[in-house]
Amino acid sequence: MAENAKKETKVICFTNNKGGSGKSTTCANLGYELAALGKRVLLVDGDMQLNLSLSFFDEEQVLEIAESGKTLYDAIRAKKDLSDYVVEAPYANLDLIPSSILMSQIEYDLFSMMQRELVLKKCLKNIRRSGVYDYILIDAPPTLGTWVVNVLCASDEIVIPVEATPWGLFGLANMFDFLGKLEDMTDAEVLGVLITKVDERKNYYRQTREILGEYEEIRVFDTFIHVDSAIEWSQDASKPVSVYKRSTRSALEYKKLAEEVMKYGGR
Ligand SMILES: Nc1ncnc2c1ncn2[C@@H]1O[C@H](COP(=O)(O)OP(=O)(O)O)[C@@H](O)[C@H]1O
Ligand SMILES: [Mg+2]
Repeated sequence: MAENAKKETKVICFTNNKGGSGKSTTCANLGYELAALGKRVLLVDGDMQLNLSLSFFDEEQVLEIAESGKTLYDAIRAKKDLSDYVVEAPYANLDLIPSSILMSQIEYDLFSMMQRELVLKKCLKNIRRSGVYDYILIDAPPTLGTWVVNVLCASDEIVIPVEATPWGLFGLANMFDFLGKLEDMTDAEVLGVLITKVDERKNYYRQTREILGEYEEIRVFDTFIHVDSAIEWSQDASKPVSVYKRSTRSALEYKKLAEEVMKYGGR
């Protein structure tokens, strides 16, 4: 490829069938930090819990957007290119495709569609090709159904957040099995496992890293995220943590993660 050829947009999804592992928090804050470093970022909220959308807009605004029909659910139902569903986030270089509570019935809707695993991939095709974004980050729900297969088929890279708790790795083997079964359908590869909610007073960080070390082919990010109450406060205020409290530990860690992702993620 010629050196000045336009690089393709990287699509990264955040998955783990275990809820509460930090998928939405990571998608929102990593997205914000990549944008703050000058990358053009589109966030796609793929979860009916709306957590990614609520990270940037308050509940009233999210419901208003949902009523206007500008959500991922509307795009998938209509099989439309996502370009028409982009909402500007209140920060430079950062856009969002919001979710809707109607995403709760997406499995049912997909069931009757042709090539039902590839609907999201097709909806992303033009917006990817346009080169408008450096990164498209997709937040996935804590399930392993057809919708998550859509998310994985639409992605180049997968980030798996795991909590540094005794049950944090529970189900991870399942997740890897699931990814193995999709090998023929998607080229998506695991970019890395991110250890989240690390509490220095407890020993689980070391334990988690040791167990993850047994999966030799899987990268564990050098960066990890400490438990930080500013995360919850920032979410309550619908702001990225570094906007809420610039020097708080998790804000600096998410910036470091953005740099690590840029190093491995190739953009
Ligand atoms: N580093 C952190 N420190 C403290 N609380 C966190 C941290 N990361 C996530 N949380 C909290 O943990 C909960 C689950 O995180 P979330 O990102 O929603 O996980 P998931 O999307 O995987 O379900 C949320 O209430 C969030 O506020
Ligand atoms: Mg979530």
